[in-house]
Amino acid sequence: MIHQELADAINAQIAQELTASYNYLGMSTYFDEQSLDGFASWMMNQHAEEQAHAMKLLIYLQDRGGKVELAAIPSPNVQFDSVIEVFKTSLEQEIANTKSINELYELALKLNDHATKSHLQWFLDEQVEEEKSMEDIIALLGRIGNDTAGLLYLNDKLGQRKEEPSA
Ligand code: FEO
Repeated sequence: MIHQELADAINAQIAQELTASYNYLGMSTYFDEQSLDGFASWMMNQHAEEQAHAMKLLIYLQDRGGKVELAAIPSPNVQFDSVIEVFKTSLEQEIANTKSINELYELALKLNDHATKSHLQWFLDEQVEEEKSMEDIIALLGRIGNDTAGLLYLNDKLGQRKEEPSA
């Protein structure tokens, strides 16, 4: 049976992953309205990935005999001023998520819960990837600036992203 303090923290993390998922869905609808289908599709994949992260934690909590508590998820922002603003917001969200996964890991460490530490290792690795992909896109958008052809090229490129089987 998992320690209650850890179960509470995992439930909070489930809510955080679902909030991220919902926020990415909001971003996807923003891009769709801007007729940037590639960006919209990329964000839809991101939405699905975050949902998968939440489910990974939820099933783990159930497997460990913890009680799942499903918190309310706030409505996402669907209004942005620019493409780069969306990705900067995404990066901030990922940085906050990395911080909370680290805190969760530290709690598992403190409580000597080795199984949870092992489970969270995947999330720590995933966060490195998530932050890197946001940073790469922000860097490209910075170079593109106001060049519409560049933006449409990136739109096409991001539209080719396939769903990741690991999620
Ligand atoms: Fe599930 Fe992007 O962290």
